[in-house]
Amino acid sequence: MSVIEFEDVRHRMPNGVVALDSVSLKVGRGEVVAVVGGNGAGKTTLLKHMNGLLKPSSGRVTVFGKETKEESIARLSRRVGLVFQNSDHQIFSESAKEEVMFGLKNFGIPPGEAEEKAGRALEYYGLADLAARPPLTLSGGEKKRLCIAAVMAWEPDVLVLDEPTVGQDYPSRSRLFGVVQGLASSNRTVVIVSHDLEFLWPLSPRTVVMSKGRVVADGPAREVFMRTEMLRDAGLREPQLLQLSRRFGREEPFTAVDQAAAWLTERGRAN
Ligand SMILES: Nc1ncnc2c1ncn2[C@@H]1O[C@H](COP(=O)(O)OP(=O)(O)O)[C@@H](O)[C@H]1O
Ligand SMILES: [Mg+2]
Repeated sequence: MSVIEFEDVRHRMPNGVVALDSVSLKVGRGEVVAVVGGNGAGKTTLLKHMNGLLKPSSGRVTVFGKETKEESIARLSRRVGLVFQNSDHQIFSESAKEEVMFGLKNFGIPPGEAEEKAGRALEYYGLADLAARPPLTLSGGEKKRLCIAAVMAWEPDVLVLDEPTVGQDYPSRSRLFGVVQGLASSNRTVVIVSHDLEFLWPLSPRTVVMSKGRVVADGPAREVFMRTEMLRDAGLREPQLLQLSRRFGREEPFTAVDQAAAWLTERGRAN
């Protein structure tokens, strides 16, 4: 059974813009799916359909077999945790700890257990020392981690991230990469929208390309990112490591800078 399924979904905004057009997509349990595309391609609109924040104008979205039209956002969010692009749109509590506690209490988790889960989430995301801080005093990277911790604390079956690396420095990106990799290896389902192809490439996820509200490609990253013309039409360019791999006629593309460097050094020696 798919975890999330879109069947010929169309979404028309109140102003008439068609943000999703004939979208059909299945996300299976344990899959890591990257959704990429230029500005205004419909990526955020797609994600908001996954936890019921938006409903299709026509077509169907089903989450764990239930049509989202017939479910409350609260019930859907329990299973599909969405982390917004802009942390300031998500955070509203007085302290980091309360932010994490909020969802847990909301989902009816008993106070003692909520306390324990919140503590663990803050610890895991390196926020234990900041538990008492007002979230607005946190840095951008810390806020993002808090948003992820708050969602992960209630252990949704699916984690959905909208542009998680925007404005993140290198340590925050690395930590985030570790989180996604950890979820992937523990067979959790993750959907990530990102412009940041360099971040996505080493994860080699299933990659869905969107353009003008439509899905224009869907397949393994290695195959999708080979389609230069399609990428260009969608306002994207292939990741740099892939460009480099092609430049040197490598059939097996590099997935890490160190790997590319080692290979190029070796090649230099051989010549
Ligand atoms: N609340 C809204 N009202 C009207 N149009 C919107 C709204 N939100 C998004 N859109 C439009 O819908 C399209 C898809 O937007 P969005 O899903 O945010 O794209 P992306 O996340 O890929 O940048 C764009 O044309 C955008 O301008
Ligand atoms: Mg967006």
